[in-house]
Amino acid sequence: MTPHRTLLAACFLLVLVAAPVWADSKGPGAEELARVVAEAHAKFKGVADGAPADYIPELAKVDADKFGVAIVTAAGKVYVAGDVDQPFTIQSVSKPFTAALVMQDHGSADVILEKIGVEPTGLKFNSILATQVIPQVSVNPLVNSGAIASVSLVKAGGADERFRRIMAFYEALAADKLSVIEEVYQSEAATNQRNRAHAYLLFASDRIYSDPMEAVDVYTRQCSIGITARQLAVMGATLANGGVNPITGKRVLDARYVPKILAIMMTAGFYNESGLWAFTAGLPAKTGVGGGIVAVAPGKLAIASFSPRVNDAGNSVRAMKAIEHISEKLGLSVFGKP
Ligand code: DON
Repeated sequence: MTPHRTLLAACFLLVLVAAPVWADSKGPGAEELARVVAEAHAKFKGVADGAPADYIPELAKVDADKFGVAIVTAAGKVYVAGDVDQPFTIQSVSKPFTAALVMQDHGSADVILEKIGVEPTGLKFNSILATQVIPQVSVNPLVNSGAIASVSLVKAGGADERFRRIMAFYEALAADKLSVIEEVYQSEAATNQRNRAHAYLLFASDRIYSDPMEAVDVYTRQCSIGITARQLAVMGATLANGGVNPITGKRVLDARYVPKILAIMMTAGFYNESGLWAFTAGLPAKTGVGGGIVAVAPGKLAIASFSPRVNDAGNSVRAMKAIEHISEKLGLSVFGKP
């Protein structure tokens, strides 16, 4: 190579390395993202508050010390620390993704507004009271009742096709093969009487759109899908990237549904802690009792974290702290930098 060419190649490499990872030229570089992920993991590794959820007996058996943090940018760059390849059950983190599939299936975001609702409850994720005092009954697609209604709206001829379509959609979002963690599915299927009650209450109000017990079973399988923090961050990054998976380059979700899903995540993603979460992290996000959380900074990146110890609201203590820390350090709040 001539010296001129070598210089050109070196400049090109420098631009690649130094280039901001999101469209905003003021965005942080690769080094800062790697540092902030490592810092969040190190800072909260020792926190032991909360406990693994045990109302699903199998969940109480997980290794409570696992802790992983992952960032995937809208450009597909990946930054990780800790146990990011440890599968855990997706649980309620699945709910916004199925709601997105429902919007896409029906060609309209309003299907969720009209057939489920979008109001936050300020109550627990499985509150029967909320469904009885909020006129929509199902309430919103991120609490159990609305999530079961959401599953019933996925276009399918029966339970198996319904589940297969949900799984295929998640795999396209995650850019990876996924599978159900069978022990957790069996454990929840044997103990989910409360969700069956939700489904029959929906049925009594004409707010469920398939056989109620079929919807509960598919919902339970959906919640038992195994996911890693790394895969979850890719699912979030697909939302951050307007519905195009940044790893595969394939469009998974029509761009017009992304802001609608993020709006529901912002107002209801943390149940009775949604206000607190908006105040602290300022990012649309979703939690699950398996210990996972995914947060989306639109147009920029997604952060996923996994730690099985959850608080009374069913939200992972360390995952919340890690994501709040990253949001604050990178100034990601959708409301502006405080
Ligand atoms: O239906 C349930 O209770 C569980 N499969 C999911 C609940 C959940 O993840 C609540 N979120 N933090």
